[in-house]
Amino acid sequence: FQPKSMAGKHVLLTAGPTFEPIDPVRGITNLSSGKMGYAIAEAAWEAGAHVTLISGPTALPAPYGVQCLHVQTAQQMHDAVMEAIGLQHQDAFIAVAAVADWRVANASSQKLKKNSGSDMPELKFAQNPDILTSVAALPDAPYCVGFAAESENLLVYGAAKRIKKNIPLLAGNIGHHTFGQDDNELILFDANGHHHLPRADKHTLATQLIAELAERLSQH
Ligand code: C5P
Repeated sequence: FQPKSMAGKHVLLTAGPTFEPIDPVRGITNLSSGKMGYAIAEAAWEAGAHVTLISGPTALPAPYGVQCLHVQTAQQMHDAVMEAIGLQHQDAFIAVAAVADWRVANASSQKLKKNSGSDMPELKFAQNPDILTSVAALPDAPYCVGFAAESENLLVYGAAKRIKKNIPLLAGNIGHHTFGQDDNELILFDANGHHHLPRADKHTLATQLIAELAERLSQH
């Protein structure tokens, strides 16, 4: 009998895009499908962990066995993450969501009217909280894993992002065409350097990432 590698561990994840309203029927979002985050949540559950997934709007069913909470905005995602950490000590936090950097500061409570001519609405933006940085800065922070989707210079930007966010592990998506795809290719950055997880379907990569995480948690 081999105990599962994540047995008894609590893992919290974010996945999917966020949706930032402009008015009650319009908003700003991005092309994240949630597939990578959901696959990692599933792999963590398969490895024996208690898994909480805070998801932005996606078309995916909640993974079996995973406690899934749905939010729309980055602020709601931030608040749900902090609440989950307050309710239950989390061993690891994996930030996979493509969180909007900005929200619309002057969102309208009524649907904006299409006026003729030059009377265009003007959007003002405000900065959203960086959820991963906030969690990494908590006293007694969970083991934090971040993601990066860079369109160029991944080796340089990925290593720098891991240090800037002050996290032990960061997974870089190779290329920016991964959104919505069923496969992916990752580079893992840690304090010792980086290594490559070759192209595979997202579930295979998720299982490899969780195996890495389990190894690190056992030494943590
Ligand atoms: O800084 P950047 O957005 O490239 O960092 C990406 C990483 O940070 C991802 O792990 C993402 O989930 C997380 N993030 C976050 N909150 C934000 C922005 C990014 O948790 N507001």
